Amino acid sequence: MSEVHTYPVPETFAANTLVTNDDYQRMYRQSVEDPQAFWSQQANDFLQWSKPFTNVVEEDLTKGHAAWFADGELNVSVNCIDRHLPTRAAQTALIWEGDDPADSKNITYQELHDNVGRLANLLKARGVNKGDRVCIYMPMIPEAAYAMLACTRIGAVHSVVFGGFSPDSLKDRILDSDCRLVITADEGVRGGRKVPLKANVDKALANCPDVHTAVVVKRTGANVDWDSKRDIWYAESVAEQSTDCAPEPMNAEDPLFILYTSGSTGKPKGVLHTTAGYLLASTMTFKYTFDYKEGDVFWCTADVGWITGHSYIVYGPLCAGAVSLMFEGVPTYPDASRCWQVVEKHKVNTFYTAPTAIRALMGAGDDFVTKCDRSSLKLLGTVGEPINPEAWEWYHNVVGENRCPIVDTWWQTETGAHMITPLPGATAMKPGSATRPFFGVQPALLDEKGQEIDGEGEGALVMKASWPSMIRSVYGDHQRMIDTYFSTFPGYYFTGDGARRDADGYYWITGRIDDVLNVSGHRLGTAEIESAIVLHEDTAEAAVVGYPHDIKGQGIYCYVTLKNGREPSEELRKELINLCVQEIGPIAKPDIIQWAPGLPKTRSGKIMRRILRKIACNELDSLGDTSTLADPSVVDELVDHRANK
Ligand code: PRX
Repeated sequence: MSEVHTYPVPETFAANTLVTNDDYQRMYRQSVEDPQAFWSQQANDFLQWSKPFTNVVEEDLTKGHAAWFADGELNVSVNCIDRHLPTRAAQTALIWEGDDPADSKNITYQELHDNVGRLANLLKARGVNKGDRVCIYMPMIPEAAYAMLACTRIGAVHSVVFGGFSPDSLKDRILDSDCRLVITADEGVRGGRKVPLKANVDKALANCPDVHTAVVVKRTGANVDWDSKRDIWYAESVAEQSTDCAPEPMNAEDPLFILYTSGSTGKPKGVLHTTAGYLLASTMTFKYTFDYKEGDVFWCTADVGWITGHSYIVYGPLCAGAVSLMFEGVPTYPDASRCWQVVEKHKVNTFYTAPTAIRALMGAGDDFVTKCDRSSLKLLGTVGEPINPEAWEWYHNVVGENRCPIVDTWWQTETGAHMITPLPGATAMKPGSATRPFFGVQPALLDEKGQEIDGEGEGALVMKASWPSMIRSVYGDHQRMIDTYFSTFPGYYFTGDGARRDADGYYWITGRIDDVLNVSGHRLGTAEIESAIVLHEDTAEAAVVGYPHDIKGQGIYCYVTLKNGREPSEELRKELINLCVQEIGPIAKPDIIQWAPGLPKTRSGKIMRRILRKIACNELDSLGDTSTLADPSVVDELVDHRANK
């Protein structure tokens, strides 16, 4: 390891922080030594309960079981909206910045209340009851947040599907969780381009006979096909509804939402989060990790289709009564200074984004940054993938003018909220390290035998105890949750990541150790891409691995074996690429396709991905033992024809 530079907490920051290093030490200790007392206090400080809880937590990780605050009752929309009204009715809740820089508006907490109430009443009028699933397939417009909160108002379970997913992916997700109502828009707008959301919904719903209603927001006014039995316009339908909708009292462990995410095998899993634990963890981490102070403007650039958007655009900030900025566009439109123009325009105090965006903007040059006024910025954050120290330094020096701490937040869809992260007033930073565990989080590193590694070392990253926003189930397949997260190392939650712990106890995430790719901070299962490729009638077999990519973090490298008698061609390559985009969405577009006459397999027929990974990464000196392969010569053939030599 090269020498690591440590950046202390800036003194000006430490002087006025919610959590100093001493506070961190004390609170962390209490959170693990006396979780009942710690969480009881936090849950009462951060949330408003309609019926107080008496139990804090019951857990048995050997069974994947955890229940938090299980006899308490509350409503998420009341916590995110109503309880702020006495003091913040006129305060901005959401700042919406459109794709077009001339388009923006502010939504106050009162307006949020009225919009959410109307939509909640509309959902009820269309027959949505407590526990029913609602699919949200939306662009980044305020109605996406209204839709999520309207579901929580009436106890419906939302399943937000990222607007970049294909009609087929949307259909699979709607069917998997048996959604009966879909909320969408005529079109989305991103980077000056239109996204045909309603047309995608029409295609998906052709195979979803149980969906009785599609609520459509008019975003662009484009001509769209209309099924008058099923489709209703949002604006005219909510106009008929009252702004008051009585909140449904929910049990702490009632389902709150489902969010699909890729795993190493099979189709994406519907990760299920429940009400109180998720809301508490997203709110608490929002306050502490971002050191959020009254009136600060907080901007998380994620899409609400991902967990980051759920936790840090909608639930965490709104439950904390914050000002949350929602951005419809992309960081490079109209040009690479867009983010910093938005920072200047809305006086953003905290900016939270993914390393892939930072690398892309770094590549565009400093002028795009320095020409904008960033004096409002106090804190920067990253999420989604390991950040390389070079990008970290640029973010720190150029964007943050050496003033702003950076919080490198490690977490997952399944964890619901930050797990390992610096607290900016407490933790000295090391570029590339997610540093120390958040309150109540008890990470451990396991070796290949499943033994805990003490002190410095590297191994599989697991959690020794539950935390409030831990995944509770995989929708419709509880056993799959147990198999995926709680069986590899019995008694622990297995993250799927590897990590290293240094002498200071800091964690360095080394990346996935399963067959999950992280492309531009988005998770993709290699199995999903392989299934798409073998749909083509010319393909016999496919194996997909990741390789280092300068901007995207990981690129998608596909080895494809054709059926006997079929010939590789440029046209076929394009067809396969299009197939992945069509089946999954543009994020699954392969970067490299290598024609493979054969794949390295063990004698029992298992593909040796380790070797394929090494070839894709050009680590040809360390291919390891190939003698156990059924036919070792296929490796030479693949090496000779490597696609990105
Ligand atoms: O591999 C880790 C990586 O992203 C995975 C989780 O992906 P997803 O569920 O889509 O959630 C992304 C946003 C929370 C993790 O298993 N990851 C996430 N944050 C970091 C990270 N890797 C390194 N450093 C991070 N800060």
